[in-house]
Amino acid sequence: MPDLYANIQEVDSEVQERLAAVLELRAADARQQEMLRAYLGEIEFPPQARVLEIGCGTGGVARTLACWPKVAQVLGVDPSALFIEKAIELSAGIANLAFEQGDGCSLTLDADSFDVVVVHTTLCHVPTPESLVAEAYRVLRPGGWLAVFDGDYATATVATGDHDPLEACMDAFRDGFVHDPWMVRRLPGLLQSAGFTLGAIQSHGYVEALEPAYMLTWIERGADLLHQSGRIGALHAESLKAEARRRGEAREWFGHIAFGSVLGRKSV
Ligand SMILES: C[S@@+](CC[C@H](N)C(=O)[O-])C[C@H]1O[C@@H](n2cnc3c(N)ncnc32)[C@H](O)[C@@H]1O
Repeated sequence: MPDLYANIQEVDSEVQERLAAVLELRAADARQQEMLRAYLGEIEFPPQARVLEIGCGTGGVARTLACWPKVAQVLGVDPSALFIEKAIELSAGIANLAFEQGDGCSLTLDADSFDVVVVHTTLCHVPTPESLVAEAYRVLRPGGWLAVFDGDYATATVATGDHDPLEACMDAFRDGFVHDPWMVRRLPGLLQSAGFTLGAIQSHGYVEALEPAYMLTWIERGADLLHQSGRIGALHAESLKAEARRRGEAREWFGHIAFGSVLGRKSV
């Protein structure tokens, strides 16, 4: 199953609406915001910084960037017209924030025009990450910073024991929503090969214990994909989702993913 985010423009609008809701659910999560602040805090923003977010989705990260100290202007770019429309709606009244539709692998932006570029949970969805990182390098001014944050999906799990049936949903979710589950481990090499000097490299553990929240959407999306691809019947898919909810009601839920962030600086 190909990664839906990698071909977002071809995904039907009902599915894109569901994904938009998931992105906003995650953006509202205090611990997700904490991880964002942890790596943004390592970046040396110059006064009046111009910031670009590549793969901005519905704009949750861009809205935080617009209020970040020293930031003057933020532009969010994403290939999904539906996400961009939502991002514009959700940022109404934030004067220093703009969005436009575009592909991070072939930006129509000028070279040397941004102080900071942020790529947040996007690179693992891009089949040609080298092109996106090269574009980030091109549009950054000399001395500018690239920050990439992504999930280490290879080790993401909701299993609470051997042969946990919910892991089949996790596997399907990974196949259907993540192009490269190993991306985090390739980030330092990828940035260095593009010409960046490496800055802070951080690991950010994220746990959902007792009650599910965002991770429940992994199971729901994975179960739906297993059904849609003909692997299991509708009843089985519903029972897998019901098992995830039951664990929450019984306060037996546990899920874990490590995110990683890597900073790179363009040479002066
Ligand atoms: C998981 S979402 C992350 C969105 C946002 N950064 C956030 O954290 O809420 C991944 C995003 O990558 C975008 N994307 C996929 N391919 C892309 C590309 N070639 N260039 C830029 N963005 C891309 C998708 O449309 C989607 O909005």
